[in-house]
Amino acid sequence: MNKKGFIFDLDGVIVDTAKYHFLAWQRLAKSLDIDFTEEENEQLKGVSRVKSLEKILSWGNKTISQELFNELMGKKNEEYLSYIAEMDETEILPDVPRVLDSLIEKEQPISLGSASKNARVILERVDLKKHFDAIVDGNDVSKAKPDPEVFLIAAKLLNRKPEDCIVFEDSVAGVEAANVANMISIGIGSESVLGHAKYVFKDFTEISEEFINELIKN
Ligand code: G6P
Ligand code: MG
Repeated sequence: MNKKGFIFDLDGVIVDTAKYHFLAWQRLAKSLDIDFTEEENEQLKGVSRVKSLEKILSWGNKTISQELFNELMGKKNEEYLSYIAEMDETEILPDVPRVLDSLIEKEQPISLGSASKNARVILERVDLKKHFDAIVDGNDVSKAKPDPEVFLIAAKLLNRKPEDCIVFEDSVAGVEAANVANMISIGIGSESVLGHAKYVFKDFTEISEEFINELIKN
C-alpha cells in the first residue's frame, strides 16, 4: 500500500488542552492587572510559550524585566502541569483513536508535530504515545509555527517527502506552517477560522474511512 506521512498537532487536535492553557494564562494576566479574554486565548493557539507571554504583555501594554518574564513563564507552566497531571484517556477528542487505529492498520507512518514542550507528558497521560512512529515537539524546534520547521522535521523522521505528508491542525499558524511546507493541510475546527486549509472538518467524527483512503491513494 502507498505510504504517506500523517502528522498530528496535539493541543486542540488530539486533546483539548486549550482550556488549561487559558486558566493558567488568565491567572498570570490577572496577577499583572491585565484583562485576558477567551477571544485573545484563541490567538494563542499554536503559539509558543514565550510568544504567548509576549502577546499577553503587549495586549496589556506592560513591560517587565527579563527576570520576571522568566519567573512568570515558570509559574504558568507549573500550573499548566498540575492540570495535565489529572488528564486521562477520557480527554482524547472524539474519534481520534478511530482515525489513528485506521492509519496504523493501513501501515501509514504517523508523527506528532506540536509546539508544546509538554507534548510527551500529555501523550503519556492519555496513553497514545505508542501510536506514534515519531514525536516532534517544542523541544526539537528553534522556529515556531507558522514556520514549517516542526513539520519538516517530522517528514524527515518519517522518511517522507513534504508533498506526501498530511497535517491535522486546529490553529491558523499551524495550517499556514503546513501550507508553507507544501503539505496537505487539514483544519480541525471552523471554516471561518481555518479557511486557508485544503480541507476543514469540525472534528474527527467527520473524517470518514473513504476520505482516509483517498488521502493515501492520491
Ligand atoms: C501549543 C498550544 C499553545 C501553547 C504551545 C506551547 O501550540 O496550542 O497554546 O502555548 O503549544 O505549549 P507549552 O506546553 O510548551 O507551554
Ligand atoms: Mg493546536
